Amino acid sequence: MNTPLRVRALTRADLAFADRVRELAGWNQTRADWERFLATEPDGCFLAEWNGQPAGTATTTVYGSALAWIGMVLVHPDARRRGIGSALLRHCMDCLRKRGVRSVKLDATPLGRPLYQSLGFEDEWPLARWAGASPPPTPSRSDPRLRPWDPKDTPSVQRLDEAAFGISRQRILHLMLPQTQAAWIFESEPGRISGYGMLRAGSRAFYLGPVAAESAEAGIGLAERLLAGCPGQPVYWDIPEANEPAIAWAGRIGLAVQRPLMRMFAGVNLAPGDPRRQFALAGPEIG
Ligand SMILES: CC(C)(COP(=O)(O)OP(=O)(O)OC[C@H]1O[C@@H](n2cnc3c(N)ncnc32)[C@H](O)[C@@H]1OP(=O)(O)O)[C@@H](O)C(=O)NCCC(=O)NCCS
Repeated sequence: MNTPLRVRALTRADLAFADRVRELAGWNQTRADWERFLATEPDGCFLAEWNGQPAGTATTTVYGSALAWIGMVLVHPDARRRGIGSALLRHCMDCLRKRGVRSVKLDATPLGRPLYQSLGFEDEWPLARWAGASPPPTPSRSDPRLRPWDPKDTPSVQRLDEAAFGISRQRILHLMLPQTQAAWIFESEPGRISGYGMLRAGSRAFYLGPVAAESAEAGIGLAERLLAGCPGQPVYWDIPEANEPAIAWAGRIGLAVQRPLMRMFAGVNLAPGDPRRQFALAGPEIG
């Protein structure tokens, strides 16, 4: 029997549709994010067609055999509830399995969560998107432990990030760096890096993250320094519920929860990481 649904590889020629369906969902990613997904996984980004017309998208990011991420699961509002979202997800899972990946994660919106549950995903931990205006600049003393990221920091940042996230994101961080508005390091004592963070422009708001740090002092210091890069501007910040210092500080500067999200996993959770060291996600679409 002929089915109207077909899932195929997403190409650069599909990015106008992909970014439109992203905009219709009110998401914050940019064209540069889509380009980065294609650069990272040229064969791991997918487009669903319904009767030959583009209808939905999904991306995968393989961090290693111990973990891959699924993101950008978007179905055009006119094409929802036809099984397109679940077909995209099954396609991603099949491809990841063929590549030998044993654990898959994603951050689910309330709309996506039932779909993922029906495909065997389990809750790992809750998080929330905080949003609001970045605080106005305050004439504060500059902290000498904070300084801009230098390429020579990469090995230390990688170790730090791996302890927080659970597996190395080096390839993604490297591609994300040129996209950032600012990237800072917290050097608690000379030669000892105990935190790093990035801020980048999104299509609706600045995005604070990733920020990974070994202490609240480093994590909050970095968040404060990064937000000083966009005073008074709209900002989004995704924070694990387990990171109490980050949540308390986000509330104190006047940000509010915009929506809850749930980190979910399928398979064995081989790379749990430590959400208390994740002061800001890199993005729900990549972890
Ligand atoms: C979440 C999202 C991707 C789901 O896409 P979708 O194509 O509508 O998903 P499906 O059709 O596979 O499944 C959705 C529902 O339709 C039902 N459905 C599937 N095929 C159907 C059919 N032929 N007829 C009627 N209903 C059908 C499913 O059972 C499911 O029902 P439920 O909501 O009661 O569980 C889509 O709503 C979306 O793009 N939302 C905005 C972005 C977003 O939140 N993405 C998730 C990120 S985590």
